[in-house]
Amino acid sequence: MINNFKLAPSILSADFSNLQSALEICKKGGADWIHIDVMDNQFVPNLTIGPPVLKSLRSKTEKFMDVHMMVIDPEKLVEPFARAGADNITFHLEATDDPNGVIDLIHSCGCKAGISIKPKTSINDVLPFLDKVDVVLLMTVEPGFGGQGYIKGSNQRIKKIKSFLNQNCLDNVLIEVDGGVKLHNAKEVIDSGANILVAGSEVFNAKDPIKTIKDFYQLSKS
Ligand code: DX5
Ligand code: ZN
Repeated sequence: MINNFKLAPSILSADFSNLQSALEICKKGGADWIHIDVMDNQFVPNLTIGPPVLKSLRSKTEKFMDVHMMVIDPEKLVEPFARAGADNITFHLEATDDPNGVIDLIHSCGCKAGISIKPKTSINDVLPFLDKVDVVLLMTVEPGFGGQGYIKGSNQRIKKIKSFLNQNCLDNVLIEVDGGVKLHNAKEVIDSGANILVAGSEVFNAKDPIKTIKDFYQLSKS
């Protein structure tokens, strides 16, 4: 049994005309977190969800709202997303000159703080910030779109983070893995050290999304 395993279905792959149904799927499947992909068409070439949409979702669910900000100048959006009901706010290391300032701001708003890196960013670059965050999110596809393939070699990056956390008594920091996570590779990702798996297309494009969520939890126990 894996400690702390959580699934965070990404609503990026859900039907945006019926997000309430996506929330129902997450509830019935027993997902712990809901992953909200925020894109600004500058940090990544796509444009998605802002604070007003999160606020509406917040009014319909008690679930833990995991906001993944793929935006430049993340400090400008921390307070609006916190006010809209975010529980965790993750920003990208590549998107700011002041990661410590963003982490402090997120915590001062009463949210958990996550830091993320893109697949080509060195793991070493994020290590100095791990004693200040609650979550480290490793992108395992180039951020911007759902439905891409898991980048080969990502398991080694997860293991490197995991062993750094172990060696530095930072086991309370959660490792979240985002991009290309499917039922067929979930076990190896968990075994590499992931605590939280984000799954978008695998859940919301499935014939039976509720069963798919349950299947992820079954796998985590195997
Ligand atoms: C990509 C997003 C992911 C995406 C994952 O930039 O951060 O959260 O929705 O989608 P899948 O699971 O389809 O790779
Ligand atoms: Zn994401």
